[in-house]
Amino acid sequence: MIPYGRQSIQEEDLLEVLQVLRSDFITQGPKVQEFERALADYCGAKYAVAFNSGTTALYSVYRALGLREGDQFITTPITFVATVSAGVLLGARPIFCDVEPETGNMDVSLLPRLITERTKLIVPVHYAGHPVDMEKVWEVAQNYGLYVVEDACHALGSKYKGYKTGSCKFSHAVVFSFHPVKHITTGEGGAVLTNQEKIYRELLKIRNHGIIRGEDWEYYVEFPSFNFRITDFQCALGLSQLKRVDSFVERRRQIARFYQEELSKFQGLDLPVEKPYAYHSYHLYPVRFESANRRREVYRLLRSRGIGVQVHYIPVYWHPFMEAMGYRRGLCPTAENFYSKVLSIPMYPALKERELERVVESLREVLEQRE
Ligand SMILES: Cc1ncc(COP(=O)(O)O)c(C=O)c1O
Repeated sequence: MIPYGRQSIQEEDLLEVLQVLRSDFITQGPKVQEFERALADYCGAKYAVAFNSGTTALYSVYRALGLREGDQFITTPITFVATVSAGVLLGARPIFCDVEPETGNMDVSLLPRLITERTKLIVPVHYAGHPVDMEKVWEVAQNYGLYVVEDACHALGSKYKGYKTGSCKFSHAVVFSFHPVKHITTGEGGAVLTNQEKIYRELLKIRNHGIIRGEDWEYYVEFPSFNFRITDFQCALGLSQLKRVDSFVERRRQIARFYQEELSKFQGLDLPVEKPYAYHSYHLYPVRFESANRRREVYRLLRSRGIGVQVHYIPVYWHPFMEAMGYRRGLCPTAENFYSKVLSIPMYPALKERELERVVESLREVLEQRE
């Protein structure tokens, strides 16, 4: 089976992890801070706080910014449910911004009309690794006094107008995930980057039961929270992976160029674009078919051939828990249309040339059937 995404682990990663497992600290030790420093430096941000998942990182930064019951936050329906659930768990209400048909990213021109006096936060998601037009988001946020958190779980290694995603140039904070299909992995894991010390300090507390340390054995719990800590051996893996992140992204871009060249010959297929302001890091390679029927047909054929295609994403507000909150189908027509035709084909650094050719040949087979 060729999956749609997978990790690239090498001998050097294993050695780093083993070294930590043999050391005194397998959690709450020095590797966590070392990983945080390396990640912040790589992205050009002041602070990074590592978490045990992208989901807990999102929840923690929303909480650090004071998102709570009665507040609204604006995000996209074309994302993994965690972007939304993290805010719902804090009692806030998601407001969905429809997307651009060609990137699947939030259409930032729609933002002003979605803002109310209850809006606290905008959460752009860099879908598939293509950055959102952040300067425009930032301008709206500044005009209305809103926070901006980038859900960059797909976008480590991407750039917007030359700024690395994670630099927080146009946002208060940026969130990454280190799930195995992402650009680098820690097994499970995530991080928040920020340039603001106040947000950084709050995140450290939220990650660790709301604890502030006192003298000697003393500690104080400022508010109830969870244990969202990541282990040192995971951070050792993250550090080792981070050394290769640029080569991972370059390989993904090389695969994208191959797909572009081969698949642009086919009719009835729209390929990912890279806007002039973007340096795409291709977490995913989502292609779009002419119809929902064709997408299903291709999904089934490729799966039957051992090619692990996947759909990113069912619009978040279609899920039963959102329906129970009063959301209805039809809310974001462009997102729904995007969803009905999209399919992610395999994209990860370790893909071999013959595997890529197999993907192209299988697509050719279905797409040529109709002529
Ligand atoms: C856009 C987006 N946001 C949030 C998450 C949550 O990250 P994690 O799986 O690390 O909890 C993911 C990961 O799947 C994601 O793709």
